[in-house]
Amino acid sequence: MTFLQLKDVSFTYPNGFQAVQHINMQFDLGESVAIIGQNGAGKTTTVKLMNALLKPTSGEVLINGENTSKFTTAQVSKKVGYVFQNPDDQIFHSDIYSEIAFGPKNQKLSASEVKEKALHAAELCGLTKWLEEHPYNLPYAMRKFITIAAVIAMDTDIIILDEPTAGQDRHATKLLVDLINHLTAQGKTVITITHDMEFVANHFNRVIVMAEKQVLRDANAREVFWDHELLGKSHLKQPYISQLAYSLNLNEPIITLDEMVSAIKRRINS
Ligand SMILES: Nc1ncnc2c1ncn2[C@@H]1O[C@H](COP(=O)(O)OP(=O)(O)OP(=O)(O)O)[C@@H](O)[C@H]1O
Ligand SMILES: [Mg+2]
Repeated sequence: MTFLQLKDVSFTYPNGFQAVQHINMQFDLGESVAIIGQNGAGKTTTVKLMNALLKPTSGEVLINGENTSKFTTAQVSKKVGYVFQNPDDQIFHSDIYSEIAFGPKNQKLSASEVKEKALHAAELCGLTKWLEEHPYNLPYAMRKFITIAAVIAMDTDIIILDEPTAGQDRHATKLLVDLINHLTAQGKTVITITHDMEFVANHFNRVIVMAEKQVLRDANAREVFWDHELLGKSHLKQPYISQLAYSLNLNEPIITLDEMVSAIKRRINS
């Protein structure tokens, strides 16, 4: 059943620039969805509309069938958590524990519940050892996890991660994948914006492609990454492994290393 829906949503910034136009999207609970698109396509604007940081200029954002225009941003943020693209736009406490505990504290939970949620979120994000540190003593990549933990601690139904892969190494990417799997297994919806096509090909089924203020496609990763016309229009590249399969004329819509290995083995054995 649809939990979050954007119906014909357009948004114009106060300076008169229209950043998104006639956006339609819908999400069920428990889904993991990637949003991709070139710089300036309108991805961040779209997700800020989902949690009411921005309000549509026209169209509707519905949560559980209810138009969010009736609610305050604070009310919507209890359902839809947004992790900012730049962690430094989100962090404002002087120690990591306080940053993570801020959300549940604001939800007027008991002290023991606040602690439980904050510590659990910190553990999921690999931050247990650093709770007393100043956030700015940690590198950018780890500050990103502080902001992710702060949103997880709020226990929202929807969690939006805006560019969580930027600047992350393999260990951090694995942590992120485990985190997304853990959250979706709990019935939460995770929407991830990323420029990392390898990450999308390896870990997502559903992919939404945005270009020039609009949604161009909402489909599975294989379909997206083998539609050259779509990739051209949206200025996106195939994952490297698909580029290799294409260059080698393998005639198989390969999107992962494992698929490439199987295709090569089949050819060697045939
Ligand atoms: N506060 C603002 N005022 C005016 N224009 C803005 C504002 N914020 C963003 N824009 C413009 O809206 C367009 C869409 O921006 P948005 O941040 O949604 O893109 P994006 O797809 O998230 O890009 P990126 O991949 O670079 O993060 C861009 O042209 C951007 O310059
Ligand atoms: Mg963005």
